[in-house]
Amino acid sequence: MSDDSIAAAVRQALKNVPVPDGGTLADYAGLSDIIVTPSALAFAIAVEPGMEGAFGPVQAAATKATESCAQGRKVLVSLTGDKGPGSAPAGGPAGAGGAQRSAVQPMPVKGIRHIIAVASGKGGVGKSTCSVNIALALQAQGLKVGILDADLYGPSVPHLLGIDGKPAFRDEKMFIPFEAHGLKAMSIGPMLEADQAVVWRGPMASSALRQLLRETDWGELDVLIIDLPPGTGDIQISLCQQVKLAGTIIISTPQDLALIDAKKAMDMFLRLKIPVFGIVENMSCFIAPDTGKRYDIFGHGGARETAERMGLPFLGEIPLHMSIRSQSDAGVPVRVSDPEGAEAAAFDHVATLVRQRLETDA
Ligand SMILES: Nc1ncnc2c1ncn2[C@@H]1O[C@H](COP(=O)(O)OP(=O)(O)OP(=O)(O)O)[C@@H](O)[C@H]1O
Ligand SMILES: [Mg+2]
Repeated sequence: MSDDSIAAAVRQALKNVPVPDGGTLADYAGLSDIIVTPSALAFAIAVEPGMEGAFGPVQAAATKATESCAQGRKVLVSLTGDKGPGSAPAGGPAGAGGAQRSAVQPMPVKGIRHIIAVASGKGGVGKSTCSVNIALALQAQGLKVGILDADLYGPSVPHLLGIDGKPAFRDEKMFIPFEAHGLKAMSIGPMLEADQAVVWRGPMASSALRQLLRETDWGELDVLIIDLPPGTGDIQISLCQQVKLAGTIIISTPQDLALIDAKKAMDMFLRLKIPVFGIVENMSCFIAPDTGKRYDIFGHGGARETAERMGLPFLGEIPLHMSIRSQSDAGVPVRVSDPEGAEAAAFDHVATLVRQRLETDA
């Protein structure tokens, strides 16, 4: 069954789900587009603030109805208070005959010009390390930059940036972001107990992410970098639903296995019509500090070939280097500790290509 016919089947099933003020979810103005990926079926229901409780049973019934069309995909139905521009008042069906259904659009975030997600298929390939160093490299090129840690399961940005303490609030509502090495940064990490494992169910993760993103006083930023967890799960899909992304940067190691998963991640973003700025090959090679000899520990060049085959830009190679790891552990990323070094230069190269892409797309 094609993605379009699965989406149509879901819409048909939603005709049997009533909404509080009459009509059905299929005709409800706040129903988003139905997103079909190889592993998930996702959509959002926008409600007026305060209506979440009344729509709880609608969400449950919609999930149940959608599961019958999912063909093994994970079903993610989120309730959101963010209404798309031009949507009819939530809480009731669209105008006469319900013909005016308008989808919830991903919304920009006030004060932020460009939002870029850093993603990978596989875990541990260096997304967070690359996220902070690319953010710092963009900052060194004169941009105002922030970083949001969207890895709710294993937040590592605070550790990488040496952030300590709980976040402060303004007016008891907005988080004041942390400031580290000139970057504005926000993460769920400082709000959790040390070593606390958090089990986020789909809707909870989605609403935690929304709060971190929209209830943080970012001020004016040229770029917000979002460090994602690995894979193509709830958080990635929820982010794409909630926010207008300028694009994504995919991190991979040169290994075949990492590249297979990187391709899946790229495929997901392309299906969601989000530009993939390109692939970065991390841990690309090891240069022995004593002899200067180069070792291609995980192979070499695989990410460049994959990018070429997919018709996507190759954004550069980051060498495997002890200082990248040790500086990260010390809370001072290599782009700050050794701004003139070869590792910093590699991140600067990626940042230059990303900045050029933002200028071209503007
Ligand atoms: N180029 C590099 N050279 C040396 N060590 C690196 C490099 N890139 C990342 N590392 C190290 O690899 C480990 C994993 O990196 P990181 O946490 O950035 O990966 P990740 O993809 O964000 O992981 P996760 O999927 O768990 O979020 C860290 O210890 C980090 O310091
Ligand atoms: Mg990470």
